[in-house]
Amino acid sequence: MAGKTVLVIDDEAGIRKSLKMILEYAGYHVEEAEDGIAGLSQARKHRPDCVLLDIKMSGMDGLEVLESLMSDYPVLPVIILSGHGSIETAVRATRLGAYDFLEKPPKKDRILLTIRNALNLSNLEARMKASESNTAWEMIGDSSAIKAIRTLVQRVAPSPLPVLVRGESGTGKELVARAIHDASNRNDGPFIQVNCAAIPEDLIENELFGHEKGAYSGAGERRTGKFEMAHHGTLFLDEIGDMSLKTQAKVLRALQEGEYQRVGGNRTLHADVRIVAATNQDLEVMIQEGSFREDLFHRINGVPIWIPPLRDRNEDIPLLVLYFSTRFNAVNGLQTPPFSKDGIEWLQRQSWKGNIRELKNFIERHLILCTEPTISGAYLQRSAGSVSVEVGQSSDTILTAHNTLQDFKDAAEKAFLIQKLQQNNWNIKATAEAIGTPRSNLYKRMQFLGIERSP
Ligand SMILES: Nc1ncnc2c1ncn2[C@@H]1O[C@H](COP(=O)(O)OP(=O)(O)OP(=O)(O)O)[C@@H](O)[C@H]1O
Ligand SMILES: [Mg+2]
Repeated sequence: MAGKTVLVIDDEAGIRKSLKMILEYAGYHVEEAEDGIAGLSQARKHRPDCVLLDIKMSGMDGLEVLESLMSDYPVLPVIILSGHGSIETAVRATRLGAYDFLEKPPKKDRILLTIRNALNLSNLEARMKASESNTAWEMIGDSSAIKAIRTLVQRVAPSPLPVLVRGESGTGKELVARAIHDASNRNDGPFIQVNCAAIPEDLIENELFGHEKGAYSGAGERRTGKFEMAHHGTLFLDEIGDMSLKTQAKVLRALQEGEYQRVGGNRTLHADVRIVAATNQDLEVMIQEGSFREDLFHRINGVPIWIPPLRDRNEDIPLLVLYFSTRFNAVNGLQTPPFSKDGIEWLQRQSWKGNIRELKNFIERHLILCTEPTISGAYLQRSAGSVSVEVGQSSDTILTAHNTLQDFKDAAEKAFLIQKLQQNNWNIKATAEAIGTPRSNLYKRMQFLGIERSP
């Protein structure tokens, strides 16, 4: 393990010094940072193999640093140094992806053992790392829509223009935002994400702009806001349609003037950030209704990028199937049955309300579950059917739940056949006669539509 780089992020010079001595003696290369912001930039610069991170630091605290490290380097082992063994902190850090904890002051043997274990990553993680780094933020697809988006991303990335990415849930808005950052000249700066929908109204201002020490009761140490963290980088305002009018006003000012203040502070700070925003809401309607500011809309809508839903570009599906299955197998070291041509065609007939995210989950699930030599259309139809047969679909659902004529026809035929089979007590011969079709045809249709008698 010697020769590996360990980054120590701690605001106490004494601790940094003693860790450096111990680690260098054991043959590691050591980089140091005295606060969170410096830590993040050292991480980008030196790509350490492991990080030792203090939790309690002024400015950006350790958990925030951890969150940012995990979003940029998902498999980097980060070991938390904590003096105050708070359970709550430990739980949060673990959730965020911390590898392990060391009590302060750290003991030499414990440190070396923990680092050795951390560096001895399982094959799985190493493979994951490899597969992630080759394909980071790759936008797969050969539909004209995706080709146009790829071109647009390359063209707008180097400019300072704000970008507004729109599209249904799961279409790849975050992917586009990250691709823009990666292709920009800010790509060695941070990519900082704020999910405006996930943060409670009364906390979002703190989250965005930070607060001064003791700004209000319970404010504690000074806290760094996302604008400040994103300095020289990209700030991704996700779900911007969910931001309250009050916050919209503050964000507008920060964007217009490039200036803002921490909550409870009066010092004016400057933000050099590139804004990428995303939403699946209809901002134009929200403007009409008065719930989204028109001036903010124009400010963030420098270049609009619209990602069409997957059902409108189902020619992308064959490539996506190949991409997701190859990656899944590589990451997990598996060999799974391939999707057959009619299996892929079956996928192309579905409406994918959850778009690429839903398709990806669906593919991965069936790679694991399918015990047949190929994942065929008949298999997929059968497994889709076995879920809903008992209930059957109401005519209302059939009329509204399908986007292609073929989906609709299949669903309607299925509901009809199930109803007739039930009326005839699942007697195939009687049912076939009742609906005027040969028995063999009824069998074939039942098989294709995945109709099975429920137990
Ligand atoms: N064209 C694509 N090629 C490969 N993977 C994609 C593509 N588009 C989306 N994905 C993957 O699909 C998943 C969902 O994408 P992403 O999170 O960017 O969607 P989103 O539009 O931000 O969704 P939401 O509105 O729910 O936040 C991610 O795993 C992403 O990597
Ligand atoms: Mg998203």
